[in-house]
Amino acid sequence: MKIMNAEFIISAVSPAQYPLDALPEVALAGRSNVGKSSLINRLINRKNLARTSSQPGKTQTLNYYRINDLLYFVDLPGYGYAKVSKTRREEWGKFIEGYLTGRDELKLLVHLIDLRHPPTADDIAMYEWSKHIGLTVCVVGTKADKISKGHWPKHAKIIKDKLGFDPRDSFVVFSSETGKGREELWEIIREKAGL
Ligand code: GTP
Ligand code: MG
Repeated sequence: MKIMNAEFIISAVSPAQYPLDALPEVALAGRSNVGKSSLINRLINRKNLARTSSQPGKTQTLNYYRINDLLYFVDLPGYGYAKVSKTRREEWGKFIEGYLTGRDELKLLVHLIDLRHPPTADDIAMYEWSKHIGLTVCVVGTKADKISKGHWPKHAKIIKDKLGFDPRDSFVVFSSETGKGREELWEIIREKAGL
């Protein structure tokens, strides 16, 4: 995908702020710090359009980015960050749940999981729930540059086994650092978003 135009639209804190133009949406979910914002930046080849941080739990709103006036990336707040209060976590749950279950424009959930480690209980719960509500999911194994290429298949298999991966979903090994998986992921996004 040639990126002609990418712009930050809004940090939404309520559904009233979601865009009204009915463009397809691709949402990014995963643990805090797994690399959601970095993946958006890599997909559009911008250094810092989506705010990244080595401090987990930074993204707390639903951040919309419009790409080529064709689709939106929706950067969701990360889950599983222990230092976030229980009340905050419950609010997160309600807000995200509402978005993921009720948004007709949502065509694909990109679910990021750290390729280096087996999925956490939160990762498994997120995946199972998103399948339960009938979302089309692409699982992305992130930070692939941190392990040797020869180990990628083994790590991917552990993640798939633990998730109870649905073979109809796609799985992409990805690195925001090197760009590995970028084209493959764009292809999936293009197909699922109907572009
Ligand atoms: P929250 O917004 O807190 O939920 O985090 P996030 O999922 O958006 O993570 P973010 O993109 O901010 O990345 C977190 C940290 O991991 C940053 O220090 C990134 O530089 C680093 N990182 C992200 N992706 C990669 C990757 O593919 N390779 C390497 N080596 N580091 C990465
Ligand atoms: Mg982020």
